[in-house]
Amino acid sequence: MRPSGTIAFHDLAPKLESFRDAVLDGLSQPRKRIPCRFLYDERGSDLFEAICETPEYYPTRTEMSILKKHARKIAKLIGPEATLIEYGSGAGQKVKLLLRTLDRPRAYAGIDVSREILLRATDDLSMAAPGLEVVAICADFLTPIALPPSLRRGGGRRVAFFPGSSIGNLTPEEATRFLAQCRAMVGPQGAMLIGVDLKKDPARLNAAYNDAAGITAAFTLNLLERMNRELGADFIIERFAHHATYERSVGRVAIHIRSLVDQTATVAGRRFRFAKGEGIHTEDSWKYAVSDFQMLARDAGYTPLACWTDSADLFSVHYLAA
Ligand SMILES: C[S@@+](CC[C@H](N)C(=O)[O-])C[C@H]1O[C@@H](n2cnc3c(N)ncnc32)[C@H](O)[C@@H]1O
Repeated sequence: MRPSGTIAFHDLAPKLESFRDAVLDGLSQPRKRIPCRFLYDERGSDLFEAICETPEYYPTRTEMSILKKHARKIAKLIGPEATLIEYGSGAGQKVKLLLRTLDRPRAYAGIDVSREILLRATDDLSMAAPGLEVVAICADFLTPIALPPSLRRGGGRRVAFFPGSSIGNLTPEEATRFLAQCRAMVGPQGAMLIGVDLKKDPARLNAAYNDAAGITAAFTLNLLERMNRELGADFIIERFAHHATYERSVGRVAIHIRSLVDQTATVAGRRFRFAKGEGIHTEDSWKYAVSDFQMLARDAGYTPLACWTDSADLFSVHYLAA
């Protein structure tokens, strides 16, 4: 998809070499791993949207219900003429809920590594909200991003919006550093609105990451297909399986691609051995208690001003003043 005329598009996307280098480096480690941002090519993003529709995956609908229920209170805290900067914006459905109740929002920037979904979502938003300045930034949000000058102007608050509990993909130490980086970006009057998945019954978590229809498995294994497509790899997908399990003692769901047999595969001209049962770590999803996350936010320099949860305490949304 090409950017339409109504959005400003900044293409800072990591190049093919960065995927190849990350894969070759990650598969050479004693414990093989590939950073989770590479799960999101066009197909990966579409599969993630399908995961959100599965009956087991409660985070998306629960977060949406919290945002809907508390929209007025959130709008009051954010105030008029705000600029929203959404990290890992994906399909951009949640920000639409916010924009409906905000007082004359001024601008919106979506940041995502997945170019197609970013362009689709920002294009859609610019049509739904004609007066809003809409900017699409295709970039890795873990690297510092200079905001375009138009987003640094204006009287309203700058608010970083980080839904989907994507913060859980980072270790608590990385999360603290990332939140501090966002705090510098929104400035002293700014804020962060962030969705955080809560610690809960392991059975519920294990079900959410192992849906019966196998969509999460397809999402994880798409990483092998992506390597076959983009890096000339020769993975035989049926010889691998998705493996996700909640590690209660540390509070995280760890996700791996597990080799079902002893085998080798070639990636970008290099041969790698996989023992039966060996994993490639693809993603973690850290879970928090509300008080633990507020402590982490304080360590990053924020003042937690509000936190909303659903009646079953599955998910939390925090408003943090910078
Ligand atoms: C779990 S999905 C959440 C999507 C959406 N925000 C939601 O709440 O439903 C994570 C999104 O972040 C993007 N993403 C993951 N890692 C990223 C990174 N390092 N830089 C930029 N975008 C990233 C993915 O492409 C994907 O769209």
